Amino acid sequence: MIEKINQLKTEIEELKVSKSEDLEALRIKYLSKKGEVSRLFNDFRNVAADQKKEVGKLLNELKEKATARINELKNEFENKNQDVVNIDLTRTSYPIKLGTRHPISLVKNEICEIFARLGFSIAEGPEIEDDWHVFSALNFAEDHPARDMQDTFFIQRNPDILLRTHTSSVQTRVMEHAQPPIRIICPGRVYRNEAISYRAHCFFHQVEALYIDKNVSFADLKQALLYFAKEMFGNDTKIRLRPSYFPFTEPSAEMDISCNLCGGKGCAFCKHTGWVEILGCGMVDPNVLEACGIDSKIYSGYALGMGIERVTNLKYQVKDLRMFSENDVRFLEEFESAR
Ligand code: DAH
Repeated sequence: MIEKINQLKTEIEELKVSKSEDLEALRIKYLSKKGEVSRLFNDFRNVAADQKKEVGKLLNELKEKATARINELKNEFENKNQDVVNIDLTRTSYPIKLGTRHPISLVKNEICEIFARLGFSIAEGPEIEDDWHVFSALNFAEDHPARDMQDTFFIQRNPDILLRTHTSSVQTRVMEHAQPPIRIICPGRVYRNEAISYRAHCFFHQVEALYIDKNVSFADLKQALLYFAKEMFGNDTKIRLRPSYFPFTEPSAEMDISCNLCGGKGCAFCKHTGWVEILGCGMVDPNVLEACGIDSKIYSGYALGMGIERVTNLKYQVKDLRMFSENDVRFLEEFESAR
């Protein structure tokens, strides 16, 4: 008897159906009054008294299993059929969720629009560059650390071909081909061989601005910077310039803006200084003008460069830089309203 029960159990476990009539046939075969399971229940009378407990338990289990399996097959069969009936293969898959602009694109566009109001037009250049446009023409000394293998991604072991480390390379390209007045803004992606962490990535984005004409002075630069800061971060924003060094500008400066979180009073974000650093700038070094075929005795100019991720952080307080490149829709959707 026990053997028979086990045999039926395996049989039931392996049942399959392809038509709805099969389902009913199976129900009759196993569960109807004259079905196999009921037949075993009838035979139960003949089981020896000392085995009744064990066999009874197995029999009940078999009945439960058979009922469950047949119901399961019924559900599977109905769902399968319903899918086929209900799918309209000609229908557009919708509702189509409208995508949102990436925060980096939003901020890039905003920066470009602000400079467009000052008469700057957009210029772009290649991400795979050569040493001349990224370093040499920009007055980087032969042994300048920025050329180092640690910072720069070189291509095919050819130290002359590299991924640009800054968008200042676009300045070089434009100056080589155009004569002043030049007033350009260059947004783009740049690459540096950095260990990836919450505050550094091996690629990020910059915007570079360049203005070359007769009699361009540091006062012009300062005015453009103040205008940009107020437009970008609000009318109350203050700026301050600290002397700095870049090979391609002389004099050079770094600009801080008053912390837009605490209004300059001091908070954890600005490390209690009331100021946050935002960009580098300066007067284009005459060596750079000459290297690009512009007469430095007639023309002068200013340049500035900023990281878009940095500006985005100041505007939206994104704590982990990696969020920008992970494509997590939960993060990206937060910028829906800013579209
Ligand atoms: N190219 C610089 C960098 O990647 C940023 C920069 C600083 C650009 C000063 C400029 C400038 O045009 O004048 O760090």
